Amino acid sequence: MPSTPGPDVDGAVAPSRVVTDPAPLLDVDGCSSVVLPVWPGSDDGAGPWLGEGADGVQATGADLLDALERARRPAAAGTVTPVALPHGAGPRRALLVGLGDGTSDDYRRAGAAVGRALRGEVRAATTLAETADDAALRALVEGLVLAPFAWRRGITPVPAGTPVEEVVLAGTGAERVGAVGRGLAVARAGWLARELVVTPSDTKDPAWVAARAESVAAGVGLGVTVLDETALAEAGFGGLLAVGAGSVRPPRLVELTYAPAGAGESAPHVVLVGKGITFDTGGLSLKPRDAMVPMKTDMTGAAVVLAVLSALHDLGVGVRVTGLLALAENMPGGSAQRPGDVLSQYDGTTVEVVDTDAEGRLVLADALAYAVERLRPDALVDVATLTGAATMGVGRRHAVLFTADDTLAEALSAAGAAAGERLWRLPLVEDYRDALRSEVADLCHVATEKVSAGAITAALFLEHFTGGCRWAHLDVAGPRRADADQHEVTKGGTGFGARALLYWLTADALRPGS
Ligand code: BES
Ligand code: MN
Ligand code: ZN
Repeated sequence: MPSTPGPDVDGAVAPSRVVTDPAPLLDVDGCSSVVLPVWPGSDDGAGPWLGEGADGVQATGADLLDALERARRPAAAGTVTPVALPHGAGPRRALLVGLGDGTSDDYRRAGAAVGRALRGEVRAATTLAETADDAALRALVEGLVLAPFAWRRGITPVPAGTPVEEVVLAGTGAERVGAVGRGLAVARAGWLARELVVTPSDTKDPAWVAARAESVAAGVGLGVTVLDETALAEAGFGGLLAVGAGSVRPPRLVELTYAPAGAGESAPHVVLVGKGITFDTGGLSLKPRDAMVPMKTDMTGAAVVLAVLSALHDLGVGVRVTGLLALAENMPGGSAQRPGDVLSQYDGTTVEVVDTDAEGRLVLADALAYAVERLRPDALVDVATLTGAATMGVGRRHAVLFTADDTLAEALSAAGAAAGERLWRLPLVEDYRDALRSEVADLCHVATEKVSAGAITAALFLEHFTGGCRWAHLDVAGPRRADADQHEVTKGGTGFGARALLYWLTADALRPGS
């Protein structure tokens, strides 16, 4: 029975252990709940029916069928019908969980509902895994582990309760361990991303995130280097330095490297770049009060990139991956950059700054140019909470995807759909590029003509620094935060993008010819 310890991190409670059990019958030893599947009825009028493991539970004298009959849509994916079991030594209740049509999304939603329902318990067993194929099993585990995510600093307990300590998946023999492990790896990456995002910015300045990256790297065997403000100045990272200039907490660039076991230099090389603004006040172009409140989430891109890198070994990813975290705090201090300043990016391009609140693209431009010049990637993907315009366009449950490469667009979109993190592609409209012209520098970083396409003009600015490399940009400003719990997503920072990128990297999307 492989089990997995959760990370022990400041502020976070531990995620559940998920344990495989080859026995097809429920081992309910020490379990407070037993979790059973519910399938929808057939078109000929038969009602919903109970799946694997129900007979044994019915034998305790519980009337599960009566409970099912009285429940509203008990077979809908994620509906949980609790039934008290007769007193005795065994579990005190059964949870009947709808599996809907049995798609992977349905299993992820069912897993999420179960993960929430089991909060505060110690041990539960379920037959839900028995009918799941590998993709569905992976999704089930993701939902189970991600949905009860909690982070709290204080002496009072998490109001909703902490995740169940252990869940036993009945009927998961040796051949299912891989799928369970992949689900766990992705879910733990999600936890890491969320923890980093929800950590308050009094704690997480650029140096703190860099230190976390170093400890994560040490834990999973990644290479890591950190450039501090002196090294950044020597190397010419003018964007990162300008954005970080208004803060007493200086910027950092973190470089993380993963090489698959046995792969030489010939393995394809992916570079991931994350926007890591540990707090975005807007700088001297100060944000209004309400807009500033949630801006500790403006380092979601960097959190996602670190989380992705942390899971590559566990997932056995076959490509080389370098992660770059572009970390700075955007503050309006006395040494802050001013509107009208002209800075030099890493590649020498000069940029006229007109709005210090459009800081993300300045730190990303440096990192992208560095990647192109020094790392020569086969594919370059950045993740950023870049524009409010992206939120306006697609709302809180989709991210915006930009790329000139149709194959890459397809692969990333497919990965996002499979992972439960949907991406919607917007065009890189050539005609709008003129709007970035400057009278005094090579480029202006925001559109100076009114083209009303803020997410697109930001992407066009980034594209300038990608040197013709195969590149994609994910604007996750919308889904970076959720206003309420929904399925596997929890209220607050979501770490959106980590799962989509991990699915992409495990799908071997970069095999030659694909
Ligand atoms: N971090 C913000 C983008 C953002 C806005 C993320 C709302 C999440 C929610 C970014 O740095 C920013 O301020 N962008 C400006 C750009 C503008 C000044 C050209 C924006 O979108 O308003
Ligand atoms: Mn900003
Ligand atoms: Zn920002």
